[in-house]
Amino acid sequence: MAVTMKKLHAAADTVRKACGPADIAVILGSGLGGYEESLIDPQEIAYSKIPGFPVSTVAGHAGKFVVGTVRDKRVLVMSGRFHHYEGHSLDAVTMPIRVMALLGVKTLIITNAAGGVNTNFNAGELMLITDYINLSGRNPLRGKNLDEFGPRFPDMTNAFDPQLRDIALQRAQRHGIHLNQGVYCWMNGPSYESAAEIRMVRTLGADAVGMSTVPEVIVARHCGMRVLGISSITNMAAGVLDQPIHHEEVLQMGEKVRGSFRTLLDSLIDHLTEEESEKI
Ligand code: HPA
Repeated sequence: MAVTMKKLHAAADTVRKACGPADIAVILGSGLGGYEESLIDPQEIAYSKIPGFPVSTVAGHAGKFVVGTVRDKRVLVMSGRFHHYEGHSLDAVTMPIRVMALLGVKTLIITNAAGGVNTNFNAGELMLITDYINLSGRNPLRGKNLDEFGPRFPDMTNAFDPQLRDIALQRAQRHGIHLNQGVYCWMNGPSYESAAEIRMVRTLGADAVGMSTVPEVIVARHCGMRVLGISSITNMAAGVLDQPIHHEEVLQMGEKVRGSFRTLLDSLIDHLTEEESEKI
């Protein structure tokens, strides 16, 4: 069933009652959970308590919104996300983003686990997403346009905010974190790609490949949010190394980069809350 404003408002009202409004949102990818522990006075709600919300089926993905304070700003952490490969419609996958927009979120930090396509990358590194390629053949904005959020044909030039990218690079350098930059390519999954597909996406200009993020980014941009994307390169993509890819190893590597990822995220939120406070 297509998403409606009524359904979105009902979900947003429930989250607002439980957790209050939010200014900044963070979506945590596989193995990258834990940031919610940084929040002051956290209030949370399980997805299962939100009317109309899908329920995550992936191991390693909890399913809750946690909203808390950093300085005087409200930060919402989405712990566990929905993927198209789980069988969720793109309306369901992107419903949380529209709910965030209704809660007042203006800035979204979106993270994921990804396979490294660029042979200069190594598993265990981070990549700042500069742009995306949508090879899924799908678009979450298909169907009646929700004019309350944005235009029928939204611009996707600089989908990842150039200013926020600069800040991320500066902050990574400050903390001695190696931050690659590159293009993230969305594949449907759930099978990992074939080696030939990886050679193809490299030719097309992709640096990393994954099964999430792009639908959320398209909808966030449609809602007018500023978006920053960070991939944890949990493994080299198919065929780069002479070894198979196992989901457990992807999760374990996510755990390994958690420390540097957390440092970078803390620093970014620090900047954003300072920046936002200064505007008032
Ligand atoms: N391919 C697609 N998605 C992924 C990968 C990959 O190699 N690693 C983590 N998520």
